[in-house]
Amino acid sequence: MTLVSMFDAVQDATRAGGLGAFNVISIEHAEAIVAGAEAAGRPVVLQLSENTVAYHGSLAPLALACLSIASTTNAPVVVHLDHAVSVGLVHQAVGLGISSVMYDASALPHDANVAATTDVAAWCHSRGVFLEAELGEVGGKDGVHAPGARTDPVEAAAYVEATHVDALAVAVGSSHAMDTRDAELDYGLIRVLAAAVDVPLVLHGASGVPDAGIVAAVSAGVVKVNIATQLNKVMAGAVREALAADPKLVDPRKYLGPGRDAVTAEVTRLLELLTVSP
Ligand code: 13P
Ligand code: ZN
Repeated sequence: MTLVSMFDAVQDATRAGGLGAFNVISIEHAEAIVAGAEAAGRPVVLQLSENTVAYHGSLAPLALACLSIASTTNAPVVVHLDHAVSVGLVHQAVGLGISSVMYDASALPHDANVAATTDVAAWCHSRGVFLEAELGEVGGKDGVHAPGARTDPVEAAAYVEATHVDALAVAVGSSHAMDTRDAELDYGLIRVLAAAVDVPLVLHGASGVPDAGIVAAVSAGVVKVNIATQLNKVMAGAVREALAADPKLVDPRKYLGPGRDAVTAEVTRLLELLTVSP
């Protein structure tokens, strides 16, 4: 049983490098991510986004599968709710046994974000739950995770102090769902933010950041590194290859299996990459 708390995982990460947080869409993702963590000998975060919950129609089936997979591996695993806009979903996740959540009020006006996040933080802390959050939207559909968006260090420090969140997602040059790995991060800003804010920093949209950029971000002070699209690219590539190799293939195990294996190898590689001294 190695389901661990995010409080412990981020502490371990600050000693040994970054903490890889990977998005789960199918049960194969969860199996692959945990197998990758076992191979790398590193802790890992399985995260379920509100969008993925909407895709499945409910949280419980995939969340319970993740909790079950986490409890039967040797690797330390955190199960985390990612980008929850709905407070009801946060309550549901915690009720199911998820002990870490990202409450995303970044689309709200600043004062409303602070008020709502403060309430959710108090609710979470009275139950021992870890809360990640982020500052307000800077325009564009991608909110703060847009190439030009930047988190202001003074605002960030005030936000963390006011809300009592346990981790802060920061805008430092990455953007969600990039299919190229050429985002240029602002490492100077990461260093300033890490000094200004006394909770771990979270890099969202890390699929668009090249390997060297991920290493540099961790060295500059990022702790949790969120990666989704990169795994989906790797999975889709392997599934496409398996289907193309045999046009008669119909058994999902024969194409999802190679997809899962490819994700395992990529998670192992990324977790080894993240094992750097900050
Ligand atoms: P990417 O899909 O761009 O890696 O983003 C992941 C993420 O930020 C999940 O919260
Ligand atoms: Zn994100």
